[in-house]
Amino acid sequence: MPEEMINEPLHHPGDSDFVVVSNRLPVDRVSTEEGDGGWRRSPGGLVTALAPVMATQDGAWVGWHGAPDEELAPFHHENIDLVPVPLSAEEVELYYEGFSNSTLWPLYHDVIAPPEFHRTWWDAYRRVNKRFAQAAANTAAQNATVWVQDYQLQLVPRYLRQLRPDLRIGFFNHIPFPPQEIFAQLPWRQSIIEGLLEADLIGFQRASDTANFLRSARRFVGAGVKSAQIQVKDNEGNVVHIARAAPFPISIDVGQIQELAGRKDVIARSRQIREELGNPKTVLLGVDRLDYTKGITHRLKAYGELLHDCELTVEDAALIQVASPSRERVETYIQLREDVEGMVGRINGQYDTMQNTAVRYLHHSYPVEEMVALYLAADVMLVTALRDGMNLVAKEYVAARGDNTGALVLSEFAGAADQLKSAILVNPHDIDGLKSGILRAVNLSPAEAGRRMRAMRRQIVNNDVQRWSSEFLAALQKEATPV
Ligand code: F6P
Repeated sequence: MPEEMINEPLHHPGDSDFVVVSNRLPVDRVSTEEGDGGWRRSPGGLVTALAPVMATQDGAWVGWHGAPDEELAPFHHENIDLVPVPLSAEEVELYYEGFSNSTLWPLYHDVIAPPEFHRTWWDAYRRVNKRFAQAAANTAAQNATVWVQDYQLQLVPRYLRQLRPDLRIGFFNHIPFPPQEIFAQLPWRQSIIEGLLEADLIGFQRASDTANFLRSARRFVGAGVKSAQIQVKDNEGNVVHIARAAPFPISIDVGQIQELAGRKDVIARSRQIREELGNPKTVLLGVDRLDYTKGITHRLKAYGELLHDCELTVEDAALIQVASPSRERVETYIQLREDVEGMVGRINGQYDTMQNTAVRYLHHSYPVEEMVALYLAADVMLVTALRDGMNLVAKEYVAARGDNTGALVLSEFAGAADQLKSAILVNPHDIDGLKSGILRAVNLSPAEAGRRMRAMRRQIVNNDVQRWSSEFLAALQKEATPV
């Protein structure tokens, strides 16, 4: 019996025909130190994308509610059945901050920070993945569809298949899947691939992520790969399961962003933002989780040099940088915050005047209404990620620009670059290239800006998140045909 087999008894099926499983629920518990112990929207692109899908679909969402050492019964929130999975404070440290965000996260993002490998973290990852699988098994009805999300839960398809062979299981990886040569570093690479291969369909953001995964499946478990179908064999070499892998680039709720972008109060707020900045000629905007993958320091370096070279002045241009707090107890994030805040302080110290500030740095997260007001206020959006699964902020900016004005500077290392080809594409490691990309965006003629924005908007409007989920779920229902 493989090491990963679960021996817990099979539970009676639940009554949900459709179950989403992700590390976080769409809402997070506000700690009593920060507020009243109520709920707030969880951070990140996964929730941004899946919340509107679940709002229009009957189903249950299984995930952690963001507070350690707290067991909660299933509850109903904004029309969705939520099934909380408890995590102890120690599991938050070992499984979430440790294996998920200090091993897998840097490993899957081009080792921008060095990944750490600890056996105690891996043990916690397995234990917690079993718990999520068990919760999904208890929630899903007979022959239900279960859609497992992201790198924190890569063993769930396997554990779930053992508990509930009747289920149709999909998996979607929201972050990049690394090249085989980098994935090879992971001591538990074989178990991770075996965990994923028990899904019927494994979705990735980019074609390159899919190709990376298929190469690793071939190399580390000797799976037979033919036309993106992966044959899982038993010890005698008999094919026992066929998994499929394919790219499904995720998107946003275009209708919601467009609706907000047309609302009077949101438009008034965007004008107010510009006025509060002193009505500069150009407002530049960066919106990111405070994460080292987002290239915030590269962006600040380029911006600081443009001020130094007098290519931009604080009278003519203002940069707003929203950096929402993230993974605040993880060492690399603590260090990043120091670096970013040090750079902002130095740039502002050098270039601010009594009237103007070079960088408005906002270490907060904001409701979507305020985000859309910021998108409307910004002439130039800067997305300079060093590596990013997709980057939904880039897509939200485009969706908000209904009058086809504005310019998007977009890193070629963000998944969104595969779809938003009319953005000003940059390599954020190339500071001179980044500087000229920013200047090009600032000085874009209205005709060229309009041409680029129209092309990007066509792409986004035709490919919203509802289409993403329905295409994934339709593909998941198809039978694999042996090739
Ligand atoms: O989309 C990538 C992702 O890591 C999600 O899985 C996650 O929920 C989100 O970003 C935010 O990160 P975290 O849940 O660690 O705060």
